[in-house]
Amino acid sequence: SAEALVLFGLPSGKNISLGSGMFFSILELEKVKQMQTVEFLDTTLRDGEQTPGVNFSIKEKVAIAKQLEKWGISVIEAGFPAASPDSFEAVKQIAKTMTTTAVSGLARSVKSDIDACYEALKDAKYPQCHVFIATSPIHREFKLKKSKAEILDIIKEQVSYARKYFDVVEFSPEDATRTELDYLLEVCQTAVDAGATYINIPDTVGFTTPTEYGAIFKHLIENVKSDRKIIFSPHCHNDLGMAVANTLSAIKNGAGRIEGTVNGIGERAGNAALEEVAVALNIREDFYQAKSPIKLNETVNTADLVSRFSGIAIPKNKAVVGGNAFSHESGIHQDGVLKNPLTYEIITPELVGVKKNSLPLGKLSGRHAFIEKLKELDLTFDETEIKSLFAKFKKLADKKHEITDADIIALVSGVEIENPEGFHFSNLTLTSNSDETNTAEVFMTNTDGEEVAILANGKGSVEAIYNAIDKFFNQTVKLLSYTIDAVTDGIDAQARVSVSIENVDTGTIFNASGIDFDVLKAGAIAYVNANALAQKENAGEMGQKLSEKDF
Ligand code: KIV
Ligand code: ZN
Repeated sequence: SAEALVLFGLPSGKNISLGSGMFFSILELEKVKQMQTVEFLDTTLRDGEQTPGVNFSIKEKVAIAKQLEKWGISVIEAGFPAASPDSFEAVKQIAKTMTTTAVSGLARSVKSDIDACYEALKDAKYPQCHVFIATSPIHREFKLKKSKAEILDIIKEQVSYARKYFDVVEFSPEDATRTELDYLLEVCQTAVDAGATYINIPDTVGFTTPTEYGAIFKHLIENVKSDRKIIFSPHCHNDLGMAVANTLSAIKNGAGRIEGTVNGIGERAGNAALEEVAVALNIREDFYQAKSPIKLNETVNTADLVSRFSGIAIPKNKAVVGGNAFSHESGIHQDGVLKNPLTYEIITPELVGVKKNSLPLGKLSGRHAFIEKLKELDLTFDETEIKSLFAKFKKLADKKHEITDADIIALVSGVEIENPEGFHFSNLTLTSNSDETNTAEVFMTNTDGEEVAILANGKGSVEAIYNAIDKFFNQTVKLLSYTIDAVTDGIDAQARVSVSIENVDTGTIFNASGIDFDVLKAGAIAYVNANALAQKENAGEMGQKLSEKDF
C-alpha cells in the first residue's frame, strides 16, 4: 500500500508498480526498496541544438524547457552561456523560469566559461555547472596538444574553480570511451577530488558498444573513491545506432543519471533518445531494476513540441513516438490485437499520451470552443497569440468542413514557426507563361503592415517563387533540401514543407518549415523563414553554436 511504501522511505503513487496483487511479500518490497530512480538530464537545448540546421529561438527554448519540466526531467542542460549572447540569455531565462527542475550550463575547462555559467545561472533555484575537457589520445595530441599530466592539472584547477560558485558540478572527459581506462580512472578521481559530484562519461563519437560501455561504468564506479556520493552518467551519441542500448547498459551497471535528448536529436546521428530510455525502463523494469522520473503520458506532447521547433519530423518507424509505433498492418497482427492488444503491443498508446481524436470543430465553432480545444490539447498561448490563432482557425474552417485535433496542432505549428522578424510572407500569385516558364509575384508584409511585392521568373513554380524571395533578401543561399508532407489526413490536408538552406558566405545550415493549406505557400513560408535566419546571421545577430571548432 502507499503507507507501506512511505514506511520504506519510498514515494507513493503511480510510478511505483508492484505488480497487480493487493498484497506484497517482504521480498517484493525489498526489491522496490532497492530500485533506484535514475535522474534524467536533458540536453536537447545544448547538444540537441548542435544538429545541423537546428536553431531554437529563445522563446522556443523557454517553451521547450517548460515542457521538459512538465515531462519530469530532473536537469535541463539549457545551453553553453559563453558561446554567444543569445545562448547566455536563453540559459538565464530558463534558469529564472524553472521551479522544480535543476538547470545546468556547459563550460569548457576555462574560467571565463565558468564565469559565464555563474552569471547565467544566478537566478536558478537548482543551478549546476557542467565542465568538460577532452581526454582521449587523439584529442590530446591533435586538438589540445597537451600531455596527460597537463590535462589532470587543468581538471583540478577548473573543477575547483567551478565549485567556488556551484554546489553541484558535473565533469565530463570528452571522448571518454576512446580514453585509456587507467587514465580515465585517474581523470575521474581528479575531478571527484576537486569537488565534482557527477561524472559523465561521454561516448562523444558513438564508438562504444553496450558490453564495453557497461564494463567502463562498472570499473569506474568500483574504483573511484570518495566520502561523498558520486553519481556516474552516460552520454551517448548514435553513430553506430547504439546510443539507447549503451545508455541502458550504463544504467544496468550502476549509472545514477542519464543524458540524452528528445527524439534523439543532436550532432551527426544524434544522442540517446530520452523517451526511448524512459519507456524501456518502464516496460523492462524487471530487468533494469530502475525507474525513470518521467511522466510518460507527456511523452508525445514533448516529442511533438521538439519536432515542431527543430523542424525535424519524427520518422514514422521511430520507437515510442513514431506514427507507426501503434499501427498494426499485417492481418495476423490486427486479429491478435483485436483479441488482446498485448499479443503484439508491449507499449500502449495511452502510456505515452497518444491523444484520442475528440470532437472535431467546424465552421460554426466559436472562440470559446476553440479556446477549450486548445486547453484540451494542452496548448497554452497568451491573449494576442490566441487572437491570431483564432483568426487563422476561422480561415481554415472556411476551407475545411471538419477541423480535427491534428488540424489544430498543424495550425498552431504554422503560427509558431512563422518568422517573427518584422516581416512575413503574406501571399503569392503565379502565372504560367507561353514559353513554359512561370512568373511569381510574392507579397511580403512588414511590422507596419506595409506590403512589398516582388516579381521573378523560373522554370517551375517553386523556382519562380524562390527566385522572388531571393530578390527580397538579396543574400547568397543554396537550397539543400525541400520536402513535403501532409500533416493532416485526407484530400484537404494541410501541407508542411521543410527546407534546409546553406548560407553560402558562412557555410551555416538553417532548417525551417512552413505549414499551409496550399503546398506552394507552405514552401514559400519555409524559404522565407530559413532566409530570415541566414539574414540574422549575416547581421551578426545569430548566436554561435557550440560546434567542433569551439572545443
Ligand atoms: O558528446 C560530448 O562529448 C559532449 C560533451 C560536451 C559532454 O557533448
Ligand atoms: Zn554530446
